[in-house]
Amino acid sequence: MLTTAEKARGLADLPPVQSDSLLQLIALCNADERPEKIDVGVGVWRDGAGNTPILKTIKQAEQRLVDSQASKSYLGGAGDKRFAELLRPILLGQHAGDDRITGLQTPGGCGALRLGFELLAAANPNARVLFGAPTWPNHPPIIRSVGLQAVEYPYYERGQGAIRFEDMIAALEDANAGDIALLHGCCHNPTGADLSEDQWREVVRVVSERGLVPFIDIAYQGFGRGLDEDAFGVRLMLDACDEVVLAQSCDKNFSVYRDRVGSLWVKTGSVETTATAMAHVSQIAREMWSMPPDHGAAAVHIVLEDPQLREEWLGELSTMRDRINAVRQRIASADPRLAFIGKQFGMFSMLPLSKEQVLKLRQDHAIYMADSGRFNVVGLSDAQIDRFTAAVVEALDA
Ligand code: LMR
Repeated sequence: MLTTAEKARGLADLPPVQSDSLLQLIALCNADERPEKIDVGVGVWRDGAGNTPILKTIKQAEQRLVDSQASKSYLGGAGDKRFAELLRPILLGQHAGDDRITGLQTPGGCGALRLGFELLAAANPNARVLFGAPTWPNHPPIIRSVGLQAVEYPYYERGQGAIRFEDMIAALEDANAGDIALLHGCCHNPTGADLSEDQWREVVRVVSERGLVPFIDIAYQGFGRGLDEDAFGVRLMLDACDEVVLAQSCDKNFSVYRDRVGSLWVKTGSVETTATAMAHVSQIAREMWSMPPDHGAAAVHIVLEDPQLREEWLGELSTMRDRINAVRQRIASADPRLAFIGKQFGMFSMLPLSKEQVLKLRQDHAIYMADSGRFNVVGLSDAQIDRFTAAVVEALDA
């Protein structure tokens, strides 16, 4: 019999944990019974009526799966290889033929991030990861979870709606060769403040001259300016650097959020090194999730393989993008202090509100946005836009 002092530690000894702020926000909003509540928290696209419908093309693909899928037997650790082949030109453009670049299916963009950081940590455990603040709140915990040091530099000036580009360049100039630069490919989350083409050129120059490893998170391709335009930075980086890691997501641009559809891409200086890196990736993935879920990727595969469905999907993507940009313009025109929102891209912008002001909007107006002031522009239904804007302007006036 063990004495109290000898008692082994167990689950009862776990310390409390601060759960992810965005997941907390979903729960809080769901629990609010006020019918007029406005959910601009987590990033999901909504139509003018406030719904997140399944894309027609995905519905058709799912129907085909129901009708014709003969087996749900394992596909293997890389998941659906054809899915990755079909994504290749969409993401890589002119680099699609470069056989030093390989991709594999992951559970969402988050799975790709974790896998990519695991790979980079295995290659160089002393590398530091430089990230611009603010960033997606899950980035720093993922970086730390693989044992890498997360180093923050200022990226965005909230009150000005502007990128702190000189600070960003100074931080990258200051990094050590082998350090990792985490960058947002497009539709910056949480600020909507994307690098211009000239700024990308400068970032790519510094990253390649300093010998940094760029890791680009591209979760919203097609939601900003267009599929090719949104991949500008990715492709420019591939022009200049031998080692590039990309975390890609289809969750948003195919609207398959809960199905978790993403991919990890690795470029190295040679076909052989890429093969070795991917062998590591496969082993790490095996230890974490063994094999990625199939359903969503199988549906995306069908859409991209069929020329007609593919064309229709491009139309659906334009519709989603157009609504994002139309809501942006409407909000931007309501008050000069909101004009910056009209110049930004993707689902998110960040309001210059204190945490107290954000909480007050929650209490008084049932408006749910992240404590940081990040809000999902396209989370607003048409009927909610004016009420939301008026409440925000009132908060800014206070
Ligand atoms: C978001 O930032 O709202 C999305 O990327 C969803 C998530 O997982 O946080």
